Amino acid sequence: MRVLVTGGAGYIGSHTLLELMAQGHAVCVLDNYANATPEVLNRVRALSNGTVADYTGDVRDAALLDQVMTTFRPDAVVHFAGLKAVGESAKKPLAYYDVNVCGTVALLQAMDRAGCRRIIFSSSATVYGEPVYMPYDEDHPTNPTSVYGQTKLAAERILTDWAGANPDAAAVILRYFNPVGAHHSARIGEDPQDIPGNLMPFIAQVAVGKRDALTIYGDDYDTPDGTGLRDYIHVVDLARAHVAALNHAACNTGARAFNIGTGQSHSVRDMVAAFSRACGGDIPVRQAGRRTGDIAAMQADASRAKRELGWTATHSLDDMTASTWAWQSANPDGYGTPD
Ligand code: NAD
Ligand code: UD1
Repeated sequence: MRVLVTGGAGYIGSHTLLELMAQGHAVCVLDNYANATPEVLNRVRALSNGTVADYTGDVRDAALLDQVMTTFRPDAVVHFAGLKAVGESAKKPLAYYDVNVCGTVALLQAMDRAGCRRIIFSSSATVYGEPVYMPYDEDHPTNPTSVYGQTKLAAERILTDWAGANPDAAAVILRYFNPVGAHHSARIGEDPQDIPGNLMPFIAQVAVGKRDALTIYGDDYDTPDGTGLRDYIHVVDLARAHVAALNHAACNTGARAFNIGTGQSHSVRDMVAAFSRACGGDIPVRQAGRRTGDIAAMQADASRAKRELGWTATHSLDDMTASTWAWQSANPDGYGTPD
């Protein structure tokens, strides 16, 4: 298929480009580089030895979208472009609704004008909110606790209504759990612009000496070691879920949500121990109280994705930490490090 990838220069998008090309899909990226650098696509081209068409611009720009649709003629769109920082979303709610919700509407309108009928959407397990039961399945009530989560849920509803109104349309909604890790080449990976808010990039920066210690938020949760449990998923497994979702969208219509996780969870202390094994050194930690808005445990019931997409995660926790360490140690300044 010909696949337009919005936000394709980002962390998950770049890994997905490689998996799409490996399966013979033709790709085109639309990205405004709000949270990425064009160097990402140079590395993707070098790794794949393939062609990556690219347009620089905003997913809310209707004229640019029409140009991309007319020139590239996608059969499907994978929609990653968006803003993702939970804390920032509380301070800049309108920016988050504008990019994440209005951006999705603008994209669907352009798809309608071009007759493109398949979309894969990056949603998040954060749409579930405080657990009513665990693991979350896709029928778990949705009650996001952040503006970011609200924008993802709003976009999901728009996609569902769009697919409902167009009998030939397919919208595959992927609810990611906690993506971590990097490509085995160590040439692409996660490159946060600010102090990392997420656990794995923070540990990686401690390991290379950019930060002195990891602060562990909370040790009094109702979990085996008192620290938070999460369902961490290797970004390459996550990227492959998009290929499976495209195959699904090629033969099915309607909107459908899928959890994309491993179905297992690990504590903060498990992650620190696994990272120490990967890098062969200690990760200094300091204990602090709970982080506002955090919940004790999140774990996916990923059985629907296995049953209906034929997708399942294959990478282990050690694969996740070893690949993160390989990427971070080879690129201590992320994409600012010469390749
Ligand atoms: P990322 O920030 O690395 O990638 C997003 C990409 O979109 C970036 O390249 C950015 O430059 C681009 N972008 C942002 N606003 C844009 C706009 N208005 N027009 C065009 N391009 C724009 O983030 P990621 O981790 O790769 O996440 C990709 C998607 O997955 C996002 O929608 C995010 O909300 C979602 N998601 C991420 C996680 C996670 O933990 N990383 C978890 C759940 C869901
Ligand atoms: C966060 C977001 C969530 C988003 C997800 C993936 C919040 C409240 N939630 O979730 O909406 O979908 O990222 O991008 O921001 N931890 C530490 N020290 C740190 C960082 C994290 O102890 O410096 C702990 C956290 O308390 C948590 C675990 O590590 O128990 C994972 O944290 P993180 O990577 O931020 O992911 P989430 O909290 O799941």
